[in-house]
Amino acid sequence: MSSPDSVPSPADVAARCRFEVRTDDAAFLAMLAEDVRRGFARRPWSLPPKYFYDDAGAGLFDRITELPEYYLTRVEESLLPAVARAIARDQRPTDIVELGPGSCRKARTLIDAIATAARYVAVDFGRDGLARAVTSLARDYPRLHVHAVVGDFATDLVHVPPPAGRRLALFLGSTIGNFDPEGSRRLLAGIRATLGANGSLLVGVDLVKDRAVLEAAYDDAAGVTREFNRNVLRVINRALGADFVPEAFRHVARYEEATRRIEMHLVAETAQRVRLPGVDMVLDIEPGDDIWTESSYKFTRASTEAMLRDAGLTLEAWYTDDAQRFGLALARPAS
Ligand code: SAH
Ligand code: AVI
Repeated sequence: MSSPDSVPSPADVAARCRFEVRTDDAAFLAMLAEDVRRGFARRPWSLPPKYFYDDAGAGLFDRITELPEYYLTRVEESLLPAVARAIARDQRPTDIVELGPGSCRKARTLIDAIATAARYVAVDFGRDGLARAVTSLARDYPRLHVHAVVGDFATDLVHVPPPAGRRLALFLGSTIGNFDPEGSRRLLAGIRATLGANGSLLVGVDLVKDRAVLEAAYDDAAGVTREFNRNVLRVINRALGADFVPEAFRHVARYEEATRRIEMHLVAETAQRVRLPGVDMVLDIEPGDDIWTESSYKFTRASTEAMLRDAGLTLEAWYTDDAQRFGLALARPAS
């Protein structure tokens, strides 16, 4: 961290920040419209979880990370300082790329430990939030160059600049768990392609555990996750001129043992006619009708290793807490 007497000037901060918009508002709207059309075309109705995170949704997610039931963030953050020191010692990365950094809070722990870090590249949809987060990084780390790519990390990784020296990719928070096995294989193979010969990837995974603990983490007593879940309907209402009544949907989160995933659903409690002028659709919704809004896959060390292997990566180190709640896997391209 910079000391107060080394606060960089706004011009210096601006000179070290690059912004690149790969998914602009029009492209985002077209993608959302297509996903809504597809998601309501057949049962089970479904919506991709990437639309939760407008400013309100990102704020709700930040509140989730503070909830007593949502142990994921706390446990991962407790592991990160030692992991960052090990990476600094053994790998000495110069170039850090993060997928879906949100507030960039975890990146700070890495950058604090990795004195060799010269550039930080972030790929996220959250346009304003991303700009604020990376500008604040450039302000606090006066030697760091930052590069924000506003886009979809599932399709826009090809636009990430080539590694400047040795690269460390970060994919934290168990966001990999929001992809099904084929989606995660494709995504990890895409990350692998950006690493260069001697790069590595640090990926955070939530671990299989007691059903009650998992279900409480996704259905908290204060109802924050319920509002986060309903927020996808608010995003659709605003973007497509739709008139969902989010409060008329019940929040459901259940752990499916067979697939090792938490599923979040919104279940209609009342009959309603919903108009979606932006996609020229009308939905006649009956009580009990269900929209599947998110999967959060849970892992073991073995299933993480297998997932990495399928994407051409080798597990190099595995870090977990004493209670084995959360895992951090450090991986390298398989030779
Ligand atoms: N990494 C942070 C934030 C996790 S929340 C943490 O560990 O706490 C998930 C983040 O990923 C959000 O910032 C969201 O905007 C972003 N995100 C989700 N899907 C995305 C996608 N397909 N492309 C780009 N960003 C995405
Ligand atoms: C960002 N993602 C990994 C979170 C998760 O745990 O799947 C999003 C979330 N959904 C409900 N609570 C938090």
